[in-house]
Amino acid sequence: MTVTIVGSQLGDEGKGALVDIWGGDSDVVVRYQGGDNAGHTVVHDGTEYKLSLVPSGAVRGKVGVLGNGCVVNPETLFDELDTLREQGLDPDVRIARRAHVILPYHRVIDGIEEEAKSDDDLAAGTTGRGIGPTYEDKAGRRGIRIGDLLDPDVLRERLEYAVPQKRTLAQEAYGLDVATSEHADAFDVDHLFETYRAYGKRLAEESMTVNAGEFLTAKLDAGDELLFEGAQGTSIDIDHGIYPYVTSSNPTAGGAAVGSGVAPTVVGGGEVVGIVKAYLSRVGTGPLPTELDGTDSEEELADFIREKGGEFGTVTGRPRRIGWLDMPMLRHAARANGFTGIAVNHIDVLAGLDEISVGHAYDLDGEELLTMPATTERWGRCDPVLKSFEPWDEVDWSAVAVEGYDAIPDNAQAYLDYISAEVDAPIYAIGVGPGRDETVVLDNPFEQ
Ligand code: GDP
Ligand code: IMO
Ligand code: MG
Repeated sequence: MTVTIVGSQLGDEGKGALVDIWGGDSDVVVRYQGGDNAGHTVVHDGTEYKLSLVPSGAVRGKVGVLGNGCVVNPETLFDELDTLREQGLDPDVRIARRAHVILPYHRVIDGIEEEAKSDDDLAAGTTGRGIGPTYEDKAGRRGIRIGDLLDPDVLRERLEYAVPQKRTLAQEAYGLDVATSEHADAFDVDHLFETYRAYGKRLAEESMTVNAGEFLTAKLDAGDELLFEGAQGTSIDIDHGIYPYVTSSNPTAGGAAVGSGVAPTVVGGGEVVGIVKAYLSRVGTGPLPTELDGTDSEEELADFIREKGGEFGTVTGRPRRIGWLDMPMLRHAARANGFTGIAVNHIDVLAGLDEISVGHAYDLDGEELLTMPATTERWGRCDPVLKSFEPWDEVDWSAVAVEGYDAIPDNAQAYLDYISAEVDAPIYAIGVGPGRDETVVLDNPFEQ
């Protein structure tokens, strides 16, 4: 069977922690979209592993697959693999030959386009990893795929077509004097050919490339369990998120099928688990109706949560914006993904506050909405209709993790019951701290 883990909000919900826990019961962990814009943290035996591209199951020694829906920067990939090996792990990672390659010019264009958009408030606050420009080339049928790195003739032909276009774009549209800039190599066909050919050789030598759909289906046929590890989150999905402040892929559960080559009937026949952070965090730009930023006391509260929750971007180090839980956003996620269960993380971070609120609904021009409007302009005009919850005290969360659900403070249980009822899905796990042991696991999706 398959279990698909999806971010329910704006990314950084703590997906890595749950993939690590349930990955223990799987045989293969699959990323189906995104690239090294993701930052998934796994804390195991006091060691913190930060994974951007390598599926989080690597920490458990599981086979990791980067599906065709991913965009792969080979430089980051090999750096990350080398770091994990230095940390004593032996990751076994396979990459779809259909996955697209992030090239240096994609990163350069990501940076200059964000700068150009910033005058009009359209910048998404990207991670600068070249994600959007690479997906653009994929859709524009001028991308370079992992399989192309293994074939020198194809690689050269594709580069000779794409690079002059990119050079013209950078020079004519954005005024970058490519030849004299520090980015000259990023637009040099010969340099790119040599560098990416070498990556291709390494991928071939280490037998890392696969036909992902066939590889994964054969695993399923052999009785293996598959865990799909979503990156980012539903509200930054290119179709279902807060466009244009989104990433360029489909983190939603449908993406698991398209981005891996495993049939939708198989993915849909399995479990889809939404990962929920007990409040909101956001690294990018755009509106955020429940953001805590209006008054000094709200900002103080946001600072407290940010510090306590360590809310600084894993990839970029940027301080994350903080808000109350947004229930219309969660209802939207539950519908778009069809959650069979949820995990709620970070309830420890909210402990000890004087007040806890939730955006239960939105007020848009006097009308009450229970789910997100389809345009971000309308979403930005929504005022949250807040619902208050009795706060819960700080407790020894490690002890709670050992004792289980009944040890969770009553008021926190009421908060969890409310979330579960509103999204109409049972709670499979509750995060009470960053470590693998600091999770109260109620159900295992592989045993449903
Ligand atoms: P991901 O991108 O969804 O995998 O999440 P990140 O790793 O970017 O961010 C989540 C952060 O919260 C990481 O530092 C985790 O170690 C940490 N974390 C995960 N679950 C919990 C939890 O329940 N409580 C606390 N305090 N931290 C958590
Ligand atoms: P994980 O997997 C949170 C955000 C960026 C920006 C927008 C587009 O760790 O949850 P991109 O570089 O993808 O073109 O940026 O998406 N973003 C994330 N926010 N968590 C992530 O990943 C993110 N990956 C991208 O901040 O607003
Ligand atoms: Mg993250």
